[in-house]
Amino acid sequence: MKIAILPGDGIGPEVTREAVTVLKALDLPGMTLFDGDVGGAAYKRHGHPLPQETLTMAREADAVLFGAVGDPDCDGLERSLRPEQAILGLRKELDLFANLRPAKVFPGLEHLSPLKPEIAATLDLLIVRELTGDVYFGDKGERVAQDGGREGWDMMSYSDTEVRRIARVGFRAARSGDGRLCSVDKANVLETSQVWRDTVKDAASAHPDIDLSHMYVDNAAMQIISNPAQFGVILTGNLFGDILSDLASAAVGSIGLLASASMGDRATAGGLFGLYEPIHGSAPDIAGQGKANPMATILSAAMMLRHSFGMEAEAMRIEAAVSGALADGIRGGDLGGTHGTEAIGAAVLERL
Ligand code: IPM
Ligand code: MG
Repeated sequence: MKIAILPGDGIGPEVTREAVTVLKALDLPGMTLFDGDVGGAAYKRHGHPLPQETLTMAREADAVLFGAVGDPDCDGLERSLRPEQAILGLRKELDLFANLRPAKVFPGLEHLSPLKPEIAATLDLLIVRELTGDVYFGDKGERVAQDGGREGWDMMSYSDTEVRRIARVGFRAARSGDGRLCSVDKANVLETSQVWRDTVKDAASAHPDIDLSHMYVDNAAMQIISNPAQFGVILTGNLFGDILSDLASAAVGSIGLLASASMGDRATAGGLFGLYEPIHGSAPDIAGQGKANPMATILSAAMMLRHSFGMEAEAMRIEAAVSGALADGIRGGDLGGTHGTEAIGAAVLERL
């Protein structure tokens, strides 16, 4: 169990520390942790947000636990040196094309959702987001506009090969869930989405047991808020998945509770190689103050045990400890509470 720990920027190191403590407490045989620099922290130390040695460490590991990247000090750097390139580079270099983002309201926290509690209680969905294609990784640049001003451009595309492999993950996830899969696109406007939709429809013939539907992304944004119960698994592209997963996390009540897994095809002894990270960012405004909620990172470590190491029982133990702490009133500032990072970590450990 070789795990690369990449804490990154802002609150990344604080929340990662708590997740590592939880992992160590499980006393798993053969677990070895390696620390690497990423993001603005890596830029400041090595002149690059994703140094070669960090990439090599991640490649040689069975799983990566990632904190967050993003540092206002680096906003003026050229794009290729900005902290965000570390996570985008890891996803691309390690071919982590499938991003799983579960969003579920914890029992007892319905009142913390901005939705009506009776609607919030029905939110329990999984976003399967394609992670290595789309407008994120197309050619981009700046040119002179026709009127002589500036013009930025970004190229959006999906090949049917890319769609087919993420669709397979979506169908598989729907099968382990309740059989419902909703593919989200913008096929009424975008050619990229037309290829997406046609390819997903083709793939459906191999999965007759799955109840497949299609929805435009603008409508999906509205439906997640107004009637979340209709969704089981949502399958979507990189850009739409980025936006909808923040939307879903807000509906849960806090982005500080949502974990994610990014996987490819590479097998490990107990599952698949993956990168695990909270879906929140580096939160520079509260960095270093011990205020950040580490639950999303702790839950990401649980996903790692499940998906990369086949340790379902241990994953469930961590998840139960987190929901136990929440049920007992342990709340970070993100949930309107006063518990700090270490106190939340300790509360989870105690229940573990
Ligand atoms: C996410 C983040 C990243 C993304 C940023 C940090 C590049 O928002 O993981 O959702 O856009 O994918
Ligand atoms: Mg995002």
